[in-house]
Amino acid sequence: TGQVALGVIPGDGIGPEVTAEALKVLEVAAPADLKFAQTQYDLGAERYLRTGEVLPDSVLEEIRNQDALLLGAVGGKPNDPNLPPGILERGLLLKLRFELDHYVNLRPSRIYPGAARLGSPLSDEVLGKGEVDFVVVREGTEGPYTGNGGALRVGTPAEVATEVSVNTAYGVERVIRDAFERARKRPRKKLTLVHKTNVLVHAGQVWWRLFQQVAEEYPDVTTDYSHIDAVMIYLTTDPQRFDVIVTDNLFGDIVTDLAAAISGGIGLAASGNVNPDRTSPSMFEPVHGSAPDIAGQLIADPTAAILSGALLLDHLGHPEAAARIEAAVLADLEAREPGQQRRTPEVGDAIAARVAG
Ligand code: NAD
Ligand code: IPM
Ligand code: MN
Repeated sequence: TGQVALGVIPGDGIGPEVTAEALKVLEVAAPADLKFAQTQYDLGAERYLRTGEVLPDSVLEEIRNQDALLLGAVGGKPNDPNLPPGILERGLLLKLRFELDHYVNLRPSRIYPGAARLGSPLSDEVLGKGEVDFVVVREGTEGPYTGNGGALRVGTPAEVATEVSVNTAYGVERVIRDAFERARKRPRKKLTLVHKTNVLVHAGQVWWRLFQQVAEEYPDVTTDYSHIDAVMIYLTTDPQRFDVIVTDNLFGDIVTDLAAAISGGIGLAASGNVNPDRTSPSMFEPVHGSAPDIAGQLIADPTAAILSGALLLDHLGHPEAAARIEAAVLADLEAREPGQQRRTPEVGDAIAARVAG
């Protein structure tokens, strides 16, 4: 109900292409009395190359005042000599996640029955075990992403580089607590901690101890633990075992690209960078990047961006509208033929038409 200030950051490469389709579907899915007041932000590689600016403070302050954010993708062509590595990823994307305190990076994965046709590389035997429906709660503000580290004697044979993972009790506990809350609301009520406590013992101890501690407050939730390497096995042989996964920032990044691939492709995977305390706007974006290899051809699958729009609606308190998008996407997936080539706007139009009924 009412007006939602929606900040839109289309970004680079296929970002603007898929964001246009997400907006198209959002408009038709939103309840009649919900109006989006959109502000587009010109941020990304193009702006940086033109002006040297990544995220000016004044723009960040404007963004802070939005109700929600929709982001396409950021990142330029690999090894562009004019784009220092990580400048946009760190200076724009991670900066937004950190500044807006997006400590829950929510990344759902579903393989609907019949998904074998839809591009999942899993065998019929694995898919035949049943529906896959899990969500990764990836910590979004700490871990090895904080930029804590440095390099000595750069470029010499004696070079030493460190990238230190930061794990605070405050940061770890709050994301674990959020994951327990989410697990409690799902039918299977199961939460798996994913880490590498056998090797990363300092960080591992914090995660393991706080996981055990918080679990005492959620006796209705079944708990489980897997090392990250074994999760690679389970995701490809028995993905049905997972319900909610909670894990650190880097493990969560890696595990969700695999989750996307098994569930039908990176073009389907949506995410929300959520601030559960609502002290700043949450930001919704596909899991994929700017895909410079296919940018400009209008062949990117906008489904991930469209489903990110559904997560946005759900976050804003419109679960029925979100469910309408999910149902339209499912119908679109079911209608896809192997080898079918549709252009990005055609997919968006088809899903929007289904939402409109
Ligand atoms: P990527 O996700 O952009 O692409 C990986 C592969 O998936 C490519 O082959 C690409 O063509 C394909 N792909 C991605 N999205 C697709 C879609 N919607 N439909 C069809 N195919 C799709 O990852 P990358 O190549 O490692 O990174 C490219 C750039 O994007 C880098 O600069 C990276 O830092 C950045 N990146 C940004 C984000 C983000 O903004 N959230 C996420 C990941 C990567
Ligand atoms: C993602 C991306 C980002 C991440 C990069 C571009 C900073 O890979 O959203 O998954 O690692 O979180
Ligand atoms: Mn990633």
